[in-house]
Amino acid sequence: MLKLCELSKSYGQVQALDALSLEIGEGQLHGFVGPNGAGKTTTMRILATLLKPTSGTAQVNGADVVRSPAEARKQIGWMPDFFGVYDSLKSWEYLDFYARCHRLGTKERKQMTDRLLALVHLEDKRDAYVDSLSRGMKQRLCLARALIHDPKLLLLDEPASGMDPRARADMKSILRTLREMGKTVLISSHILPELSEMCDSLTILDHGHLVFSGSVAELSDKMNGNAPLIIRLQEGCGGETVERAVACLKEMPFLQELLQEEPYCLKARLEGGEEETARMLRELIRQEIPVCDFHRAPMNLEKVFMEVTGDA
Ligand SMILES: Nc1ncnc2c1ncn2[C@@H]1O[C@H](COP(=O)(O)OP(=O)(O)OP(=O)(O)O)[C@@H](O)[C@H]1O
Ligand SMILES: [Mg+2]
Repeated sequence: MLKLCELSKSYGQVQALDALSLEIGEGQLHGFVGPNGAGKTTTMRILATLLKPTSGTAQVNGADVVRSPAEARKQIGWMPDFFGVYDSLKSWEYLDFYARCHRLGTKERKQMTDRLLALVHLEDKRDAYVDSLSRGMKQRLCLARALIHDPKLLLLDEPASGMDPRARADMKSILRTLREMGKTVLISSHILPELSEMCDSLTILDHGHLVFSGSVAELSDKMNGNAPLIIRLQEGCGGETVERAVACLKEMPFLQELLQEEPYCLKARLEGGEEETARMLRELIRQEIPVCDFHRAPMNLEKVFMEVTGDA
């Protein structure tokens, strides 16, 4: 659905985007993460045909954004990070106005307006003036606007910024519905945990460079490959049992580090992957050590973000 090839953009001396290559399949909800100034908005504006790249190409469903902008635009719904809304219009009039811009017929406009107001949970604000809506409601109205011509690809630049937790949850449920409708969505944010919860795949950008691109599971594997194993023994099993567990683990040739976090909790870092992890657990059980919990410490996404973007 979306294919970027060595896409670059400089503003004078500032290289905002440096040879970004990326492919996003149809129906994917793809997160675009990076700190301030990473190049997220620049990329999205190029895709939305509002900005010309310095070099490289981008295609939306086969349409080149530079050579066939009109064709590309038909496939794209764009929700910018800052947007103006016409305050003197009612919500339905606002959507109707954009539907007219896209040359929808009278019946189609009515249907689409009703459907979209329902989708973004603003049915009861149908006749409210846009300037009477809260910021979160305006954002949802703007999302409805981006959907008015039924585009295949949605470009959402920080759609949840400034929203309270409930509004964010609401936005997530709307995004899930969009995915069920088969839309492809590229959504930017600088909050990695928030995106990883709802996206199928992610791209992390920093200073215009691609840092990571892949599924959320791949990111967690990559970052978590060397996360320590937490081994909790049965509470009160006795010092002698803990000592046996320590001795057993120290026997493992692939053990890198062993810490005793609490009287009955050990933390082991090992070299290797699943095979070694399984071997470790097997050996503990064979020696009848009462293991109650055996898991990898969950990855701290905020920490991952700081690490991969070099701002730690
Ligand atoms: N119109 C412009 N003129 C000059 N430099 C620009 C312009 N727009 C963006 N830049 C620069 O390009 C770089 C990338 O900016 P961009 O807005 O794409 O980042 P972003 O990832 O969207 O950041 P944010 O999270 O703050 O929205 C920054 O260094 C920025 O200063
Ligand atoms: Mg931005």
